[in-house]
Amino acid sequence: MTTNILVTGGAGFIGSHTIDLLLERGYKVRILDNLASPVHVGGNLPDYISTDVDFVRGDVRDKDAWKSALDNIDSVFHLAAYQDYLPDFSTFFHVNTVGTALLYETIVEQGLSISKVVMASSQAIYGEGKYECEVHGIQYPPSRSAQQLEEKRWDPVCPVCAGKLGLLDTSEMHVSPHNSYAMSKYTQEMMGMVLGRRYNIPTVGMRYSIVQGARQSFRNAYSGVLRIFAMQALAGGPLTAYEDGDQIRDYVNVIDVARANVMVLEDVRADFRSFNVGGGRKVTVNQFGSIMAEAVGVPDIKVVCEGEYRFGDTRHIISDISQMVGIGWVPEGTVEMSVQEYLEWAQKQSDFGDYATAARSDMRALGTVRGGT
Ligand SMILES: NC(=O)c1ccc[n+]([C@@H]2O[C@H](COP(=O)([O-])OP(=O)(O)OC[C@H]3O[C@@H](n4cnc5c(N)ncnc54)[C@H](O)[C@@H]3O)[C@@H](O)[C@H]2O)c1
Repeated sequence: MTTNILVTGGAGFIGSHTIDLLLERGYKVRILDNLASPVHVGGNLPDYISTDVDFVRGDVRDKDAWKSALDNIDSVFHLAAYQDYLPDFSTFFHVNTVGTALLYETIVEQGLSISKVVMASSQAIYGEGKYECEVHGIQYPPSRSAQQLEEKRWDPVCPVCAGKLGLLDTSEMHVSPHNSYAMSKYTQEMMGMVLGRRYNIPTVGMRYSIVQGARQSFRNAYSGVLRIFAMQALAGGPLTAYEDGDQIRDYVNVIDVARANVMVLEDVRADFRSFNVGGGRKVTVNQFGSIMAEAVGVPDIKVVCEGEYRFGDTRHIISDISQMVGIGWVPEGTVEMSVQEYLEWAQKQSDFGDYATAARSDMRALGTVRGGT
């Protein structure tokens, strides 16, 4: 029997790759997506979406859209979200949290039989993540203060003694969201787990690290070092990084993420659990810059750090992926591969260009990007 899957946000980056894999495995797929700008232009479905997919254009904040989209559906990937670093705090909660409440509300109210909801959460919910102080042991430091960042003291310090901290892999155990996006994502996940258990709707939270690969929208350049560095590198450089560029990041290939998504859909051991989905390798932003420079064939392109920073940003983070590995998933893609796949795809897009400069000045005007020499 074919299983009918709804993918919200299916016209986007992670959703579309997940759909490719679902179709390959014989599922029938429907998308619920509002084709919002700047990710989409002119309200058109991107040409990478197969014509075999059923499409409902609608907003996850609209209950009627959920009712149409959920008709005759067996399982849901809930990936539609408002993202990035802008200070319109309420939008994060309207789209991500209220949207999720409407999903469960519709399922319960309509008496729908949904076998599973897999929802996109984020590594962002860990804030600064897990560290160790030589004297005070395991620590989860708070967000860095405006004063600390103004003084360019980039690394978090021990909350007890203000001493040096060593970075550890962050497991699923301790959550500490530091910005509106992260708070909305964690609220969404909690809602899914609590309502899912109460109404017997198996739910899984997928805490992706930074996902990379083809189809990541370059029209939205508020975040994402891959698209920003790609635009800058293809324009001849230099690459501009926040802080000192030594931030440790955790990049995971989108094909690995799609495999993880389908794996938890099909495995009952995943039900009512949250999983880190990361690349398992620490890469600094400066190292990422070198990978990009090599990939565009101009290894001399430099990463320039002018001391600008994003207020509320995480300094370092690396996810402990042992729970996903425990159910049989391992990341196979490399950062180099993701960069290559992105460049190949982006350069074929007719409107690929520099969207990063305007995004950065917007964020500066809004007070999200601060500092500088
Ligand atoms: N890309 C990453 O690095 C990353 C990391 C962690 C978590 N996530 C999460 O993964 C999910 C997918 O992210 P992505 O990178 O594919 O993003 P994306 O922007 O490429 O895709 C999101 C899709 O959701 C749609 N959408 C947005 N608002 C909507 C609304 N109100 N109603 C209906 N549709 C709406 C957009 O039109 C878009 O097609 C999101 O929930 C995101 O928070 C992404």
